[in-house]
Amino acid sequence: MLKILIIHGPNLNLLGEREPDVYGRTTLEGLNQQIQSLCEELSVQVRFFQSNHEGNLIDYIHKHRKWADGIVINPGAFTHYSYALRDAISGVALPAVEVHLSDIQNREEFRKISVIKPVCIHQFSGDGIESYLNGVRYLVQHLKSMS
Ligand code: DQA
Repeated sequence: MLKILIIHGPNLNLLGEREPDVYGRTTLEGLNQQIQSLCEELSVQVRFFQSNHEGNLIDYIHKHRKWADGIVINPGAFTHYSYALRDAISGVALPAVEVHLSDIQNREEFRKISVIKPVCIHQFSGDGIESYLNGVRYLVQHLKSMS
């Protein structure tokens, strides 16, 4: 059975109450439940993690590198400047998909740059929760095509 990690970066613990006009009204728990249901449909095992701390995200990726076949990650604001997180993703050599609830190309200038994108197989941005679900579908398709 394929195994994937869903990783949420900083401030995503406040989903549902944080800038709902930008990020929607679904809570992190509600989002994870939808991802869990999709993973059950796809017969994929999934583990969830959220942290507001760069090092914790990196440690989690390292710790699960042998367990997981791939990663779906919303790096939050780390997207735009964390070379350490980027190195962690490329270092474990697992296929990763970057996802964003909002459309990072159509917001402030600083959000247009993703330092994570070059080490990911795909980026989904701007479709709210669908960005995560499309990220899971894309990753699973990719993993199945490789096996
Ligand atoms: C985000 C976009 C980032 O720019 C922002 O810092 C976030 C959330 C998104 O999902 O749209 O925290 O990754």
